[in-house]
Amino acid sequence: MDYRLQMNDISKRFGEVQALRDVDFTVGSNEVVGLVGDNGAGKSTLIKIITGYHAPDSGEMYFNGEKTEGLTVARARQLGVETVYQERALADLQTLWRNIFMGREISGRFGFLDVDKMMHETEELMVGSMGFTSSAVAPDSVVRTFSGGEKQGVSIVRALHFQADLIILDEPTMGLALSEVRKLLEFVQGIKEAGKSCIFIDHNIFHVHSVADRIVVLDRGEVAGEFVTADIPLEELMDKMYRVAQTGSLD
Ligand SMILES: Nc1ncnc2c1ncn2[C@@H]1O[C@H](COP(=O)(O)OP(=O)(O)OP(=O)(O)O)[C@@H](O)[C@H]1O
Ligand SMILES: [Mg+2]
Repeated sequence: MDYRLQMNDISKRFGEVQALRDVDFTVGSNEVVGLVGDNGAGKSTLIKIITGYHAPDSGEMYFNGEKTEGLTVARARQLGVETVYQERALADLQTLWRNIFMGREISGRFGFLDVDKMMHETEELMVGSMGFTSSAVAPDSVVRTFSGGEKQGVSIVRALHFQADLIILDEPTMGLALSEVRKLLEFVQGIKEAGKSCIFIDHNIFHVHSVADRIVVLDRGEVAGEFVTADIPLEELMDKMYRVAQTGSLD
């Protein structure tokens, strides 16, 4: 198996709280991994370690097979890790194309911005790569009016376009309307089709089961179970999740 990310024996404590204990976690190349578990299970903490925001107390991390120590946020980004946030992702008052190319603008000769080219590429990305169909989502529309799902879609498009290899979505469907959730789940499918990897965190097991190749269950800082989605029907997974919540174990 070709791993994009491999974590061994990761532990993290905040004062009295053991947020993660001896966690093994992997993401394959071109794999969508669902990460589930109750409030406080340690999901966001794990993500913050992957993005270089928190340092683990102990354990090892490998990106693309290479051991990484002293990971920083900047280094994680260099390694191709991008996190998509629901609200903080975009500059609301700017147009779509500006949001896509922010910080990575294309200039023509003489250093002027090549607006036509950026608009054109934006259009191709939105319609071609991600299947955006809403007429409200044009390259020169202002993103403030986009739905929460559309905004995240734009962030995913941007991450893919700029070569993110591992895209992390922490509770992306929270607060989205049903139709937006569907769109978002399609965007996650788009990550898969683009040949990239994804970590998808959601409290809604229906969402996770519908997009993840593999599902990892965290419980009170420990990995309580791990399933290949194709091998476990939704009902059985729900049963097991319920049992984990009651007893902390799958047995
Ligand atoms: N910076 C911090 N300082 C102190 N405690 C923290 C910190 N971050 C997380 N914790 C604690 O660590 C535990 C795991 O939190 P974490 O945010 O990882 O859970 P989570 O699985 O993402 O939960 P949720 O589903 O509610 O988002 C919790 O008990 C939380 O209170
Ligand atoms: Mg969280």
